[in-house]
Amino acid sequence: MGVSQVVKETRVLRVDPCHPEPEVVARAAEVIRAGGTVAFPTETVYGLGANALDAAAVREIFRAKGRPPGNPLIVHVAAVPAARDLVVLWPEEAELLARRFWPGPLTFILPKASCVPAEVTAGLDTVALRIPAHPVALALIEAAGVPVAAPSANTSGRPSPTRPEHVLADLAGKFDLLLDGGPTGVGVESTILDLTGEVPVILRPGGVTAEALEAVLGRRLEVSPAVLRGSLEEEGTAPCPGFKFRHYAPRASVLILTGDPEEQAEKARRYLRENPGVRQGLLVTSENAPRYRTLAGPGVHLVVLGARARPEEIAARLFGALRECEEVGAEVILVEAIPPTGMGLAVMNRLYRAAENRTL
Ligand code: TXA
Ligand code: MG
Repeated sequence: MGVSQVVKETRVLRVDPCHPEPEVVARAAEVIRAGGTVAFPTETVYGLGANALDAAAVREIFRAKGRPPGNPLIVHVAAVPAARDLVVLWPEEAELLARRFWPGPLTFILPKASCVPAEVTAGLDTVALRIPAHPVALALIEAAGVPVAAPSANTSGRPSPTRPEHVLADLAGKFDLLLDGGPTGVGVESTILDLTGEVPVILRPGGVTAEALEAVLGRRLEVSPAVLRGSLEEEGTAPCPGFKFRHYAPRASVLILTGDPEEQAEKARRYLRENPGVRQGLLVTSENAPRYRTLAGPGVHLVVLGARARPEEIAARLFGALRECEEVGAEVILVEAIPPTGMGLAVMNRLYRAAENRTL
C-alpha cells in the first residue's frame, strides 16, 4: 500500500462551540501532543491541525489533504507571547494590529524563528501566524500546549469547509479526530497580511477587511494585484505560495456573472437558454433574486447567498453553496459578482479562483 493510501480511523467528537467541554478538548489535545491530526472549528473555516513543532505530524497534514509540499501552513497560537516565540521580529504594526484584531481572522507573515520546522513554512524564511477567535480552537491550542499548524480542512483545491460534514466528505479516513462544533461563522478564511516589507501587503483578503486594517494603521495598505485574478501559475506572480495552486473549486465549472444586476440576470437567462439540459447551480444576491424566479425549475438549483449590501452574509454562505450545488449534481455554477469592497473583496477573490477567471 502506498503511503498516501494509509487509512485512519477518524473519530468524531461533538463539542459545544461556545463552552467546549474540558474532557472533550483534553482528548483532542492528547491527539495533537501524540503527533496526530485533529480537525477543529475556527471562526473562519475548519482547520486540520497538528503540532507545528513536530515535522512528522505536519507531514501528516500534507498527506491527508494531498497538499503540494510547496504550500506553507498557518500556525495558530492562543496568545501573543506564543506568537512572538515563533518569529525573530515583532514590528510595531504587528503589535497594533494584534491588539485590535486578535483573536480574529487576521494572519501575519513575519520572519520565522529557527524552532519552526521547514515543513510548516515550505522552506520559506517567513511564517504565517494567527490567534483564532473560536472557543474550541483556543481551548484546543491551550490544552495542547504547543502551536498548532492548520490549513483549511479540505482536500487540496476544494472549497474550504464551513461545516463538519464538509470535513468528513473530503477527509474521512485520512486524519485522527474531528471536533464537531457545528457550522463556522465568517465562512471565508483569514486575511493574510505580509508585514515583512516597508508597506504591509494584503496577500489574501479575508475576515478582516482592508478598510478596517487601514483605519487602525492610519495608512493605505497595498493589496496584491493577484487578489482579483484566478490563475497565476504561468505568470510567476503569486503573492503567497498558495496562489499558485487551483483552489476553492467544486466538481463543477464556475462562471462569474459580471455587469450590473440586470445584466447579470440577463446573462444567466441567455446561458440557460443556450445550454439546455446542462444541470446548473445559480448563486445570486437577495436584491437580484426576484429576477431569477422564472429560471428556477428542474435542472436549475437556485441559492440566494445573501444581500449585496451585506457581503459578510455572502461570505458566510459561499463555500457551503458551492458544495451544495455539486451535491445536487450541477455541472456548471453561475455566480453573481459583487462589488469588491469590504468583505466583497474576499468573496470576489474566492470566486475568481474558483472560476479560474472565467466570466460571462
Ligand atoms: O482562516 C484561515 O486562515 C484558515 C483557518 C483554519 O485558520 N486557514 C487557512 O489555511 O486558510 P490555508 O492553508 O488553507 O491557507 C493558508 C495560506 C496559503 O495560501 C499559504 O500559501 C499562505 O497562507 N501562507 C502560509 N505561510 C505563508 C508564508 N510564510 N508566506 C506567504 N504565504 C503563506
Ligand atoms: Mg485552504
